Amino acid sequence: MKKIDISSNGYIFNDISELEEEDRNLIELSVIARKKAYAPYSKFNVGATLLLDNGITVSGNNQENAAYPSGMCAERVAIWKASSEYPGLIVKKIAISAASLEHTVNKPVGPCGACRQTLYEYEFNQKEPIQIIFMGEIGKIIKVESLGSLLPFSFDSSFL
Ligand code: THU
Repeated sequence: MKKIDISSNGYIFNDISELEEEDRNLIELSVIARKKAYAPYSKFNVGATLLLDNGITVSGNNQENAAYPSGMCAERVAIWKASSEYPGLIVKKIAISAASLEHTVNKPVGPCGACRQTLYEYEFNQKEPIQIIFMGEIGKIIKVESLGSLLPFSFDSSFL
């Protein structure tokens, strides 16, 4: 038996002014998307913007439903919107921001587990990392270099 260490590396920024211009633009687009979320039940609005390698950006936001489990997260709305419009797409980055109508979200909000798995499918297929940049409404921003780094021991089609 041997102990193994699993770690992730990333960057933490104090505010969006510290981001490189491309990342700042993506975060700003995710805020625009977030403001159009349909989240009347949680009142927690999330926006996600993808940058594709052809330079196109695709945004999505969370879409809730009175039958709660029928709702969907912003990240999956965005990636499925992009994949349906641009099959075989290469995704360079995803920027995520979140805000509550009930309190100020002042910590970075990372993608949920199901969204990590969904996004990882595309990273695995494209064999190029997808960078993830995420924040709350205010406060610090985290950037990590790949989905894989957020999802150790991830499951992919090679196991099937
Ligand atoms: N939500 C997202 O859109 N992305 C995540 O990664 C976490 C949660 C949404 C789902 C739901 O509409 C609301 O936030 C509260 O969970």
